[in-house]
Amino acid sequence: MTEYKQDSPLLLGVIGDPIHHSKSPAMHGAALAALGIAGAYVPMHVKPEALEAAVQGIRALGFRGINVTIPHKVAVMPFLDRLDESARDAGAVNTIVNDNGILTGFNTDGIGYVRSLKAEAAPDLRGARILVLGAGGAAKGIVTALLREQPGGVVIANRTSDKARELAEACQGKGVVAGIGQAEIADAVQQADIVINTTSVGMYPHIDDTPMDTQLLRPGMIVSDLIYNPLRTRLLLESLERGCMIHGGLGMFVNQGAYALEYWTGLPAPTDVMRRIILESLGGN
Ligand code: ATR
Repeated sequence: MTEYKQDSPLLLGVIGDPIHHSKSPAMHGAALAALGIAGAYVPMHVKPEALEAAVQGIRALGFRGINVTIPHKVAVMPFLDRLDESARDAGAVNTIVNDNGILTGFNTDGIGYVRSLKAEAAPDLRGARILVLGAGGAAKGIVTALLREQPGGVVIANRTSDKARELAEACQGKGVVAGIGQAEIADAVQQADIVINTTSVGMYPHIDDTPMDTQLLRPGMIVSDLIYNPLRTRLLLESLERGCMIHGGLGMFVNQGAYALEYWTGLPAPTDVMRRIILESLGGN
């Protein structure tokens, strides 16, 4: 990747369908201002049928970087020139870097999550026994990033147990990974040091839902939730009551953006500023 040199405004943005809810423009806008970089980060509503043309537009308009969100993270892959290992591993792209017309797809979700987990809850994941709830797109990127940290083992539990087994199978050779169904969660929790929720269960507006029975948790365990709205899900609130250490999804969101910005600019991202603007927009503190 060539380092970005500022001889014209830095053009960045995010494509998705829908896109109006995205907090990325506010986060990256604040980051650009804090770095003193002239440029803009704009939300762009791109329908699936316009995705290929939109990718061509990145080159034509000279955008340096684009974030890709739902539902385009997988569909965008064939239109790019190169895929970084992170994108190949996760099977999805959330960040595109434009080097003079050459578009490379990255996935910063998994590494963003792991950076946040290590910074805020579990500095050393080596040997840790990790239970991952969910086997969807989010789980895929996170499991591959976790395996690079040499955990003792990863168990993936999913409502549709076949999907958990398939994901575990796809990770063979990268570490000790198993897939199970929801009925086996009770046993698996007993063997776990860290539980991570990658499902959407408990996300606003369904804030009374929880992806597992928290009575199963032991004091001292780390419980992490990818959801950042609400900042503390029911899973996290109940885990706290059980004496667990909790880790919410805000740090993942900030860090996936921070990695993207670092790839685009070659500069360290102002993560404090980025975190603050999201907290403000969520009405937190
Ligand atoms: P994402 O890309 O955000 O991970 P996804 O690929 O649709 O989204 O995956 C959502 C995950 O949440 C899946 O693991 C899903 O379980 P299934 O594979 O059985 O569908 C899980 N999930 C969603 N709603 C759920 C619910 N009410 N109870 C349990 N798991 C749920």
